[in-house]
Amino acid sequence: MRERPAGRLDLRHFERRDEPLRELHPDELLVENVLLSVAPAARAVMDTDTYRPRLVVGETIPSTVIGRVLRTPSGGPAVGSLVAAFGAWEEYSILGSAQVRRLTIPAPLEHYLSVLGQNGLTAYFGLTRIGQVAPGETVVVSGAAGGVGHLAGQIARLLGARVVAITGSAEKNTVLTTQLGYDAAVNRRSATFVQDLSETVPEGIDVYFDNVAGPVTEAILPLMNRHGRIVCSGATSAYDGGAREAPGPAGLALAVITRSLRFEGFLVADFRDEWSAATTVLRDWSSSGRLVPKESVTTGLDSAPAALIDLLDGRNVGQAGVRLRPDPPHAFE
Ligand SMILES: NC(=O)c1ccc[n+]([C@@H]2O[C@H](COP(=O)([O-])OP(=O)(O)OC[C@H]3O[C@@H](n4cnc5c(N)ncnc54)[C@H](OP(=O)(O)O)[C@@H]3O)[C@@H](O)[C@H]2O)c1
Repeated sequence: MRERPAGRLDLRHFERRDEPLRELHPDELLVENVLLSVAPAARAVMDTDTYRPRLVVGETIPSTVIGRVLRTPSGGPAVGSLVAAFGAWEEYSILGSAQVRRLTIPAPLEHYLSVLGQNGLTAYFGLTRIGQVAPGETVVVSGAAGGVGHLAGQIARLLGARVVAITGSAEKNTVLTTQLGYDAAVNRRSATFVQDLSETVPEGIDVYFDNVAGPVTEAILPLMNRHGRIVCSGATSAYDGGAREAPGPAGLALAVITRSLRFEGFLVADFRDEWSAATTVLRDWSSSGRLVPKESVTTGLDSAPAALIDLLDGRNVGQAGVRLRPDPPHAFE
């Protein structure tokens, strides 16, 4: 981060810097990164304390990294093995050995950013634990074409729900309803958004999986059924451009009280002990074709800032990521 953004994110807020690798501590490993994630949280941490303290100028943008171990401490993952970890937008990462997750199930590496990574787990735990979706219920997902959202809708359908998407474009909505099993979709940028939304949920909303917060969530509140659940996954509308000061959604307290709603946030890390079991379920669904991950991957470290700006502007479909180099040979042997 070259400069702290005060408003909308811009390429001038970033710079690429080359630095020599420092010496490794005895419990650290060196990883050659193959893929990096691009996620809205990268924008939020540039000027706000979130799940971690906000960045200081000169720090590297945090992200998930998927890579190959080059050096390892005794007892650590073997040299050449594949790992995922919380690292940063960098070609090589130095990681604590307790920090890395070994990747052993053969799958396209991109899937470890999406369906077999943090976003698949976020969708899964948000719907099953926080939303407690039951068959026959109506589930609405905002940010529905994004990394979390395109998986959340499909998982909600696998749980037996009727599923409605909210995105920012008609093109994305066509992909969701024709390729990814969403029952209906509405465009938040349309002049008739509130009316369109109301018409797509004639039986009301039982579970709202919220990735964006703000005015979209405000439009949801009057449509929630009694004892409905609002799953607070993310607040992308507040990440870019200083919207954090805006109050809202308006009417929240009265809606929650009078409809006996549950409005509950969570972090995917809250369920860390269950990641392995959940990944098995997600792997079974994806390998059998019932859960279809989509990824928008650009090439080269220098493409990351523009990919983040594009994502915040709503231009990605599925998980956004950056590929730094080809898959290592014999990746899963
Ligand atoms: N709780 C957790 O542990 C956890 C873990 C991972 C991610 N998350 C959160 O999940 C959310 C989704 O992450 P993702 O990686 O899947 O991102 P994403 O949905 O792929 O990208 C963000 C999308 O948000 C929408 N958006 C942007 N500005 C908006 C605005 N002002 N109002 C409404 N929508 C807006 C855009 O889509 P449209 O234009 O199509 O609406 C944009 O493409 C983020 O808020 C992230 O922080 C939470």
